[in-house]
Amino acid sequence: MPLATINPTKTEAWKKLQEHYNSFKDTPMKSLFAQDKDRADKYTLQWNDFYVDFSKNRIDDTTVNLLLELAKEVKLQDAIEKYFTGDIINQTEGRAVLHTALRARENDKIYVDGENVVPEIHQVKKKIKKFTEAIISGDKKGYTGKPFTDVVNIGIGGSDLGPAMVTEALQYYKNHLNVHFVSNVDGDHVHEAIKNLDPETTLFVIVSKTFTTQETLSNATTIKKWFLKTATQKDVAAHFVAVSTNLEKIDEFGIDADNVFPMKDWVGGRFSLWSAVGLSIALSVGYKNFDKLLAGAQAMDIHFKETPFNKNIPVILALLSVWYNNFYGAESEALIPYSQYLHRLSAYLQQGTMESNGKSIDRNGDPVNYQTGTIIWGEPGTNSQHAFFQLIHQGTKLIPTDFIGFVESLHGDKDHHDKLMANYFAQTEALLNGKTEAEVRTELKSKNTPENEIEKLLPFKLFAGNKPTNSILIDKLTPQALGGIIAMYEHKIFVQGIIWNIFSFDQWGVELGKQLASTILDDIKSEKISNHDNSTLNLLRFYKNS
Ligand code: F6P
Repeated sequence: MPLATINPTKTEAWKKLQEHYNSFKDTPMKSLFAQDKDRADKYTLQWNDFYVDFSKNRIDDTTVNLLLELAKEVKLQDAIEKYFTGDIINQTEGRAVLHTALRARENDKIYVDGENVVPEIHQVKKKIKKFTEAIISGDKKGYTGKPFTDVVNIGIGGSDLGPAMVTEALQYYKNHLNVHFVSNVDGDHVHEAIKNLDPETTLFVIVSKTFTTQETLSNATTIKKWFLKTATQKDVAAHFVAVSTNLEKIDEFGIDADNVFPMKDWVGGRFSLWSAVGLSIALSVGYKNFDKLLAGAQAMDIHFKETPFNKNIPVILALLSVWYNNFYGAESEALIPYSQYLHRLSAYLQQGTMESNGKSIDRNGDPVNYQTGTIIWGEPGTNSQHAFFQLIHQGTKLIPTDFIGFVESLHGDKDHHDKLMANYFAQTEALLNGKTEAEVRTELKSKNTPENEIEKLLPFKLFAGNKPTNSILIDKLTPQALGGIIAMYEHKIFVQGIIWNIFSFDQWGVELGKQLASTILDDIKSEKISNHDNSTLNLLRFYKNS
């Protein structure tokens, strides 16, 4: 059964939210805290080792209840059921959306077209385990008999961002293998990546769901040519493996059938790191840690599936985001991990969020008359404090921000960690409270600033505060915790797409880019240039004639 197609703005809850917004919008959060001493407890969710405090948001009980009503009216519960049980909810591509099945337990049963897909998923997992263990232990060797030292993941979009982000995030757990990522069709990327590599000890993992992506095939072809400068065609089998749904194209590329790790079309590229796409993760941190990552995501799946909406972390995060996006007109959200390991998290979630929900046609095929997908951006704290926090504190835009931090650091340097986390807490507090005129005056007076100077400086030193934040605190950055964080955001994306009545799991906008680039490439490579607008024509002429 297809998903419901309810225009959210036509629901009763939406109308009530609009009325509520009109009267509530300027209420300072500070006064809400002052009125309700239980506010922080009331708006905190605790699940496993996740502590999610959403009390520093511009909400009260009416807001929360109306947002929950909205979730009900758009039939979110029914959509969740369909998401987890393999209904064809990616309707424009005629596919189920089952990245959650990749983390299912071996005895679970999930059906696609009448077939339980779990046994095949676990078969592939066993193949990943066997292969990665043989590479890591050195049992499986390169063509000259040396153990592997380096791995190059060749892929782009979901076939790169997920493995790259997780490999960075779990650096603490990694083994001796150096894992490199080549994604951009920019030749300087691939040549830079391979320039110091030894073909005898390097394994190449070509990851492409479709195996037709220009960037990936170009990089793979360049690398294969480079490899064949020192090795022979028969050595390719020991050094090249592929992850894809397109077995025919892999064969054409010349990869051994034994070296193929299949994936299914019901795994979307941006949600694919849990599949064989995660091969370079398993190579980097070992299969056991890869499996723990999956287990962490699976635990979050169960939380999302089974927890009432008012206690459900992804649901609450999604509803808050809808509140700011559709009522306050906030266009972007920042994601600030207080962990250097998570420095690629927002880049990864940019694809997850913006490729999924950057849509303007609803599930009825009509243009939407409301805002959809938010813009996601961010960098780790504290670096971001010294870069763009100025705009969050004193700029003209409202930027709801997620702070993610850990109670314990991995290397155990308590002094550093206390300083790091002091910054996290101080920022969320400052974003809530701002700085009043009286506070600025007292501060300047204490520094013996002359009265006339105080008057001049005052407006610049004021902070309005009232900037919304979610504080997410987790015990420690383990593979399980990371799995939970990623799945939490995946489900947030899903809930938003359901509310906005859009299809979150296709990406026709990206497909257009792929088509256009190949036409223009013909123009660049041939004598004649086909018809374009004048600006593009001039650019092409300049490029070709310089
Ligand atoms: O960017 C569009 C997209 O289709 C993504 O969804 C996907 O992750 C990426 O291209 C790579 O595609 P493939 O894995 O098929 O090479």
